[in-house]
Amino acid sequence: MIISASTDYREAARRRLPPFLFHYIDGGAYAEHTLKRNVADLADIALRQRVLRNMAELSLETRLFNEPLAMPVALAPVGLTGMYARRGEVQAAKAAADKGIPFTLSTVSVCPIEEVAPAISRPMWFQLYVLKDRGFMRNALERAKASGVNTLVFTVDMPVPGARYRDAHSGMSGPNAPLRRMLQAMTHPSWAWDVGMLGKPHDLGNISAYRGNPTGLADYIGWLGANFDPSISWKDLEWIRDFWDGPMVIKGILDPDDARDAVKFGADGIVVSNHGGRQLDGVLSSARALPAIADAVKGEIKILADSGIRTGLDVVRMLALGADTVMLGRAFVYALAAAGGAGVSNLLELFDKEMRVAMTLTGAKSIAEISADSLVRELRHAA
Ligand code: FNR
Repeated sequence: MIISASTDYREAARRRLPPFLFHYIDGGAYAEHTLKRNVADLADIALRQRVLRNMAELSLETRLFNEPLAMPVALAPVGLTGMYARRGEVQAAKAAADKGIPFTLSTVSVCPIEEVAPAISRPMWFQLYVLKDRGFMRNALERAKASGVNTLVFTVDMPVPGARYRDAHSGMSGPNAPLRRMLQAMTHPSWAWDVGMLGKPHDLGNISAYRGNPTGLADYIGWLGANFDPSISWKDLEWIRDFWDGPMVIKGILDPDDARDAVKFGADGIVVSNHGGRQLDGVLSSARALPAIADAVKGEIKILADSGIRTGLDVVRMLALGADTVMLGRAFVYALAAAGGAGVSNLLELFDKEMRVAMTLTGAKSIAEISADSLVRELRHAA
């Protein structure tokens, strides 16, 4: 087992959440090979230790799309975050803003754009899924613009939902799911009280007005399957690029040819991601996909990367493999579920400390100095 703050928070989250929610967060698609490889491949990458290089002055600061970041980390969009802690999106967004990094609100959040954006001291990022109803998408973009969202993250690796068997086992989906979830909620009263499950049913703020959306979670997984659009192609995105004035990031790129297409399309960034192993099991881990993508498009487009990042050392590894910034998914969600916004703040502090140690001992005084040279040469492509 890998020891880290994320693994400690994961255990705490397991105790606090009803099983259907813990496994929804923790699980991946099919046999979860890619989910495991995301973490294991990163941990296997050997950092190159350097010493006696006067590392007294060290900075984690960087810029992305003209926005200052206190460290090269953003919080990834995670659906249902308001079910892991009370108004969870607001709590996580505040922790991120206090640390000086961006928070990305998911399309399928509990708290709507209009609640989260004004609650924080820096512009928010918003993630959009491709839904069959283009009118809904246009409306969501208009709402995001009106709320001062500066960066759009467009997720393209979910034209169909991945088969997540854990969700069927745990009661998140499948027959009798509502009853099973209700029974689990009753056996986790502190969670149920905290997130307000005992009061009015949960609403998914951004999509509650959406055609065919059942009340809250009632058929969340079924709703995803019915409304996501497998016919999507680059051509369909053109109106969004023309409509959206700010930076647009394409999330879910795993292949250098797709990365080149994103450059051609005129995107400002990509997220090298396999959705945390939640979509197609058996695809490459992000750490293994990243070097070839960086070779293809580094410098032409901003490269973000996620999937499997659990420590500050992993951030340094991803940057050394070619990312400009990373996104955290489960790492911050476990902390939020375990200890609310204070947990997320603490996690980000630990990431900061871990990055400083890794940079000090690899001889990188700034984010720009983290490079392929930060890794042991023979092992650089071994991941
Ligand atoms: C996600 N992810 C995700 N991505 C997205 O674009 N929109 C979404 O609504 C969600 N929802 C979601 C829910 C949960 C519970 C998880 C764990 C993940 C994917 C997320 O943005 C990110 O790509 C992965 O979480 C990264 O992998 P790690 O760091 O969690 O391993």
